[in-house]
Amino acid sequence: MVYLTRRETFAAAHRLYIAGLSDDENLKLFGKCSHPNWHGHNYTLEVVVAGEIDPATGFVLDIKKLKDIIHQYVISKVDHKNLNIDTDFMKGFIPTSENIVTQIWKQLEDKIPNGKLYSVKLYETENNYFEYRGE
Ligand code: NI
Repeated sequence: MVYLTRRETFAAAHRLYIAGLSDDENLKLFGKCSHPNWHGHNYTLEVVVAGEIDPATGFVLDIKKLKDIIHQYVISKVDHKNLNIDTDFMKGFIPTSENIVTQIWKQLEDKIPNGKLYSVKLYETENNYFEYRGE
């Protein structure tokens, strides 16, 4: 089994808040990420596919194909977008990194033509990252 990783970056705005709470209550719960007038993060996404090597090509999966799939189903929907408003797969979810990484998994899980989606990692900052493996 070989594990291949494609790294992508995107910039997106968000606000973490619960609609029924005041700005002060949201600030206590979510900190700076609840700033009422939005703010942004430079996210790094790592998508790992696991699979057997195809003896005909020597590839698990053409990594250019993986890049195109990630761009089509994820990056085009999040880069330079507002995750609360613009991103269809985040509708109804508070855009925490936990929710973003699990929703990105759902976007990609059934799109991988060879091998299987193994892990999705989302770095919100250099020091904080969130990983989902489908369970
Ligand atoms: Ni934030």
